[in-house]
Amino acid sequence: MSLRLNISDVWKSYNGKPVLNACSISFDRNGVYVLTGHNGSGKSTLLRICALIESPDKGEVNYFSGDNIFSKDIGLRRRITLVLPGIGLFNTTVFNNAAYGLKIRGGKNKETERKVNDALKFVGLIHKKNHNALTLSSGETQRLGIARAMVIEPEMLFLDEPTASIDNENTKIVEDIILNMKKEGRSKIIIATHDMPQAERLADCMLLMDEGKIIRG
Ligand SMILES: Nc1ncnc2c1ncn2[C@@H]1O[C@H](COP(=O)(O)OP(=O)(O)O)[C@@H](O)[C@H]1O
Ligand SMILES: [Mg+2]
Repeated sequence: MSLRLNISDVWKSYNGKPVLNACSISFDRNGVYVLTGHNGSGKSTLLRICALIESPDKGEVNYFSGDNIFSKDIGLRRRITLVLPGIGLFNTTVFNNAAYGLKIRGGKNKETERKVNDALKFVGLIHKKNHNALTLSSGETQRLGIARAMVIEPEMLFLDEPTASIDNENTKIVEDIILNMKKEGRSKIIIATHDMPQAERLADCMLLMDEGKIIRG
């Protein structure tokens, strides 16, 4: 049964400044949701709250499968992940960076190797698997961040500005990666971007955010 997320009447302020204002949204179909809206409208904050990195001041954030509501424990957290722009990489190989999520989950060696190789192929970095990750370009770094998320096969994948500050060629590659994941249809992908043409290229469902709430979706 697939994982669904329901956000209901969520409020969040930082230093007394309201950022999310009675924000509500449901992610219940597999495919790509794209969250657009101008800078400061609250997209990144909403993604952090959806990915359980932060808690709302008020409101409900509930993951479901069928009629079951999940407690926000490690079991649930292992099924979702958030990729931020400019991800932190470790001073080791591309392979080891991509394998990180499986290693900390105690993955078996052969299985880990197969999944990591598959993910590196998927993002077009297999030829660099033995290079030091810190030598990658910013576009390749972003692709490695996506590979690192993919190896754990998240049912819900949040991508915050996945093509911010990368060149056109890498933007096209990242968009193709997302379109290929969408074709596989195994997860829900939720992307925040302020790039409208990109949103139209990727979205099954477009959501517009303004002043801390979804005003169209
Ligand atoms: N951790 C934080 N501390 C203080 N202010 C924050 C924090 N996170 C976000 N903000 C503020 O919240 C507002 C909305 O930010 P954000 O969610 O990043 O919007 P978006 O991603 O749409 O640009 C911004 O004005 C930002 O400065
Ligand atoms: Mg943002």
